[in-house]
Parts: sequence; C-alpha cells; structure tokens
Amino acid sequence: MSDVQAPRTGAVRTISATTGDVLVSARGLQKSFGDRQILKNVDFDMLAGDITVIIGKSGSGKSTLLRALAGLTDPDEGRIVFDNEVVFEDQERTEAWEEVDSHIGMIFQSYTLWPHMDVAKNLTLAPRKKLGLSEAEAIERAKRSLAEVGMSHHLHSKPSQLSGGERQRAAIARALMMQPKLLLCDEITSALDPPVAAEVLGVLRRLKQDEGIAIALVTHDMAFASKAADRVVFFHEGEIAVNATPDEAFNRCDNPDLKKFVDAVRF
Ligand SMILES: Nc1ncnc2c1ncn2[C@@H]1O[C@H](COP(=O)(O)OP(=O)(O)O)[C@@H](O)[C@H]1O
Ligand SMILES: [Mg+2]
Repeated sequence: MSDVQAPRTGAVRTISATTGDVLVSARGLQKSFGDRQILKNVDFDMLAGDITVIIGKSGSGKSTLLRALAGLTDPDEGRIVFDNEVVFEDQERTEAWEEVDSHIGMIFQSYTLWPHMDVAKNLTLAPRKKLGLSEAEAIERAKRSLAEVGMSHHLHSKPSQLSGGERQRAAIARALMMQPKLLLCDEITSALDPPVAAEVLGVLRRLKQDEGIAIALVTHDMAFASKAADRVVFFHEGEIAVNATPDEAFNRCDNPDLKKFVDAVRF
C-alpha cells in the first residue's frame, strides 16, 4: 500500500484515503421507478485510487448507481459508506453526507458546462460559493485544474469556442476544483470521435496515477476497460452480474450475458 502522491504543482487537493483503502462501500441498494425495479440488490465497493469501469446494456441500472453515489438519487433501500462515514442509511442521507458531497464529482455525456459563462466562471462558481474562496484564490485553483487537463490556454474561452473533447476536459477540470476523492463519469466520451475520446480517457488515467483520485466510469470503450481499469463491473438487469479484473472479465469469464454484451459492443 503506498501513500497517495502529492499533486505536482501546488496543493490542488488533499486526499485522506490512501490508495488501496476502501473508499466506497454500498450494500443492498435497491431502487424502483414505478413498478420497475432498476437496482435489485446491488453491493458495490471501490478502493481509493482505483479505476472501475462499469459496463452493461442501456437500461441496466448503471446511471442509477452513479446517481445514487453522487447524491442525485436516493435508493429505496440500502446503505452507502464513503471514506468510513455512513452517508446513506434508513432511506436517507446522513449528516455526514454534507461534508462528503463536495468530495464527489460527477460528469455527464452532455450539458456539462454553463454555455453563457466562460471557462473561468464555470470553474470558480461552485468553489467560491461552497468553499468561500476569494476570486483570486478560485482563479489560481482554476489555473491549476486546467493545467492538469491540458487546457491552460482556455481559461477565458466560452464553451461554444471549445471542441467536444475540450468541453469534457474543462468539465473534468471543473470537477477537480472541489478536490474530489471520487469522480463519477457517465458516458463522458460517448459523443466523441475515438481519438478525442482517447485523449479524454488519458486525462482520467493521469488523474488516477498522479493524484490518486478514484474513478468510476460508465463507458462502452472496451479497449480502455481492458487497459486502464482496475475492476470491471458488468450490470445486467439491475444486478451486478460480474465484478472482476479486466483479465478475468474479458478473457476468463464464462458469464453468457457478458460475452454477448462484449461481442455486441466490439462490432
Ligand atoms: N428518474 C427516473 N424516472 C423514471 N424512470 C427512470 C428514471 N431514471 C431512470 N429510469 C429508468 O431506469 C432504467 C435504468 O436506467 P439507467 O440507470 O439510466 O440505466 P443505464 O444507465 O444502464 O442505461 C431506464 O429504463 C430508465 O427509463
Ligand atoms: Mg446511463
């Protein structure tokens, strides 16, 4: 077990969890919409500093799990522990959630940046409000966050002046502003061309390596899953059907639903 590496340039974030510790532990998560049960009884763990790639057919419950972890949806049943704090229990968020909330960032496929604000404003708004940073402090932090995603020259660009890949990298930089321990990425490269998607995924990989940020990523990019993931989680009809290393999942797993899914995505 090694300590999480210090950031390269200035203290962009402080991370208490050590790589290899359990960061997230969810037990017995259930969620229904109407009479459809979307999460059936999901147990899900993540270690600090790990990349977990979540795969599975559309409608299988992947986004619902991420949204539950991000606090955007409350499960009907179950318990969530984050960094040793119980944050959801007995059908509600606990007091500890408020502190933990700011350490979890979530990025979506689209609508990630406010279109009418420049990148600087997009990045500094939440930390100024929630952390009480001065404008100068927030801008300093924005510069460091943008540097981490290779976007330093876009501090004053408008989202409309950015390409799709740049927009997603700016969205990652915005998430970094809150010093996350966990980044939840829901199909953030699905609308991008493969080379651009690869650049964005490369940024995530660096954040894991250099900053020790844990990342849960829903993607159909099987090449990334097999190269970069520490764990691969396969959702099938509201349940985690496979939770394995990439090698186990892709080369040694005989789950027929996973095989069918992987074949369908690859071609
Ligand atoms: N807020 C909601 N209200 C009603 N149904 C929802 C809501 N969110 C998700 N669902 C339904 O739950 C199912 C699973 O959704 P989701 O977790 O988004 O799956 P995935 O991300 O794997 O495609 C979908 O069929 C969707 O229609
Ligand atoms: Mg989804």
